[in-house]
Amino acid sequence: MPRIIQRLEPRHRAVWGRHTVKLRHGLTELDLFSDEVLAALLDTYDEKRLIMHTMADDVSTWKSVARGGVSGRRILDAVRSGRVWINMTDVQDADPRFRELLDAIYAEWAREVPGFNAFKRKIGLLVSSPNARVFYHCDPAGQALWQVRGRKRIYLYPPAPPFLQPAELENVIRSVTAEELSYQPWYDDHAEVYDLEPGQMLHWALNCPHRIDNHDEINVSLTSEHFTPEILRRWAVNYGNGVLRSLGYTPRSRSVHGAAFWTKVAVTTLWRATVQERQSYKRVPEFVPDPDAPNGVRPIAAAGVS
Ligand SMILES: [Fe+2]
Repeated sequence: MPRIIQRLEPRHRAVWGRHTVKLRHGLTELDLFSDEVLAALLDTYDEKRLIMHTMADDVSTWKSVARGGVSGRRILDAVRSGRVWINMTDVQDADPRFRELLDAIYAEWAREVPGFNAFKRKIGLLVSSPNARVFYHCDPAGQALWQVRGRKRIYLYPPAPPFLQPAELENVIRSVTAEELSYQPWYDDHAEVYDLEPGQMLHWALNCPHRIDNHDEINVSLTSEHFTPEILRRWAVNYGNGVLRSLGYTPRSRSVHGAAFWTKVAVTTLWRATVQERQSYKRVPEFVPDPDAPNGVRPIAAAGVS
């Protein structure tokens, strides 16, 4: 596979994982993102790993969309004419060409960033409508966004209070909520704002809150996610603190070292083995894609799907 990412400069390495890095990439040269490829993937994509949402203009919440037997072509038509957001998660497991791409991306970074030891690596393929929005949220893992088709504006906020409250981050990490955070419009005065074009990617600081507005065109993007030993420690301490908070204790430390840290690792391990599944946030689909309906979706009852 030819080289994918712009060669890193010392200034990129100096801030890697702690501040935003913007790089050029060559994904636009690959034949992996055409309508034909996307429709074929959507036709057979494992529905457990296929996340689809729709959003109205006037509310800041997403509604879940089920595939409902609709063909990949029709789903793409609904994306084009409606207000639909699709994430084909773990696409590296669905198609060996994406596995090869994932391996190539992380091999390049491993060569170029000394000590960058990434594991639990995954990529998701995003297809979203003109003017679709992703509301203010944060994600648990290290993350990059790769723009392939269309343009979008991304707002990145500091990963610290008031933009990111510890209790809200803990809920995201424990999957108690759907990654959404409280948001105030004045936060935008403190945001980094990028208009992402095809061939550009961003890698930002861990847990950076962000929101995204698509420009008036269909968007195809890739997300990459990874853990490193440090990210895993921070994940574990936030998880453990969240469990303690849910039991009525106020965590006093976010340290990733020492006895308190290892106690939280034990709490996290135990909790995940026993309680996690019952507490996880569950999506309940309310719509199916329909390119002829407003916003490209039709309520499940009206579509005759139960
Ligand atoms: Fe995100």
